[in-house]
Amino acid sequence: MAEYDLTPREVAPVDTAYRRIRTKLPVPESLPILETLRRTEPRSMSGQPPVVWDRAEGLHVYDRWGNMWLDWSTGVLVANVGHGRREIRDALKAVIDRPLLATYVFVHELRAELMERLLSLAPPKAEYRVFILSTGSEACENAIKLARTYGVHKGGERKHVIVSFENAFHGRTLGSQLAGGMKKLKTWIVKTDCGFVQTPFPDGFKNPNTDFGQFLDTLSGHGLTGEDVAGVITESYQGVGPDFFPDEYAKRLEHWCRENDVMLIADEVQSGFVRTGKMFWYQHYGIEPDLICCGKGITSSLPLSAVIGRADIMDLYPPGSMTSTHSGSPLPVAAALANLEIIEREKLVENAAALGGPLGEGLADIQRKHPEHIGMVQARGLVAGMQMVKPGTKEPDPQAALAINVACFERGLLMFAPVGVAGECVKIAPPLITTADALQDGLVALDEACGAVLS
Ligand SMILES: Cc1ncc(COP(=O)(O)O)c(C=O)c1O
Repeated sequence: MAEYDLTPREVAPVDTAYRRIRTKLPVPESLPILETLRRTEPRSMSGQPPVVWDRAEGLHVYDRWGNMWLDWSTGVLVANVGHGRREIRDALKAVIDRPLLATYVFVHELRAELMERLLSLAPPKAEYRVFILSTGSEACENAIKLARTYGVHKGGERKHVIVSFENAFHGRTLGSQLAGGMKKLKTWIVKTDCGFVQTPFPDGFKNPNTDFGQFLDTLSGHGLTGEDVAGVITESYQGVGPDFFPDEYAKRLEHWCRENDVMLIADEVQSGFVRTGKMFWYQHYGIEPDLICCGKGITSSLPLSAVIGRADIMDLYPPGSMTSTHSGSPLPVAAALANLEIIEREKLVENAAALGGPLGEGLADIQRKHPEHIGMVQARGLVAGMQMVKPGTKEPDPQAALAINVACFERGLLMFAPVGVAGECVKIAPPLITTADALQDGLVALDEACGAVLS
């Protein structure tokens, strides 16, 4: 995990239309707050650039001491329609003033409205239902449970295996982590042999083999066939890259799932709600998942997640047996409705799709300046990444990624800590309301940061 130095450093002042830095960083006056958190929270909660947010609006994050960052984190891919949107605040205020703060599993009108709205986004061919929860991990847990329930229901106990991908991330709870593909995150589970199998992800860089045959080979290597498999869960793009499926692979995967009555689970927690320039990732491939996990950008603010799933699978559990205390809590529901309205009204699908080109080109230009250090750049819609390598190799270079992240922070460009198998990926995820001009300003800061660190 990234460790950020809390010693304040003199940094050059920055003043552009989008970024403003006027103090030492971290700001000396912010240290008591950061230190209180380091003392009171587990270490695991540190590890992000040392900025104390005072407010966040649109594309910008502000502290109390006059600094303004251009945000390329979207608060870890949450505030898709921009930070602190008035429409979302107004929708929340209306619910607060009614007042209607908690309903537990009792119903309210906005919940019905949201269900209709989310269902209108489901793939067209089958009948779907929506189950709302609070976190992305819960949505993945629920999809795994539903797939296994369906598998055992259709094929007996044999049909229980969940196949997922190496380096995948599906959350931090037991089931979601068993499905995850990072071994180092699973050492605490010790006994992982309970029907979860991982196959290499066809990213074309870390794994040059992009043929679907590798998926089949993994299964046969474990002595499995489609009759053993209940579901395949995949992050739509792998967060660590971001890495994308080759078209052909995605299509063959869907076909194999259909042939074997295996549930195809799209974990759209990160990619859903327009991150890649489409509402959902699977729309790039013309495939239709059976279960879709949503979270993060579904509200651009409060915690809410959802599983959108085929009705015959979702209805396997009788009344009262698949619920959660905060399912459909009025405030997150109101936020989700306002968020979806903004996505549509402001044509954010079109905006994110249009900016994918310039973002990819800008990164390719930077890579051309540092070909020894930047092993791979990827961009689609408004998600991108630069995978840093030890010069001339494919070996991950987390130190370079961290140094670039810090250099960007000091130039007023905020990104969350590097991700990746070893922390080697500088990940870029601006809010979807980013303009071409703001994107170029961010690319200038990134270019300068790379120049300072890598030259
Ligand atoms: C693809 C994916 N799935 C699941 C999760 C887990 O979501 P949460 O942190 O809301 O539990 C994340 C979070 O980063 C994610 O990116």
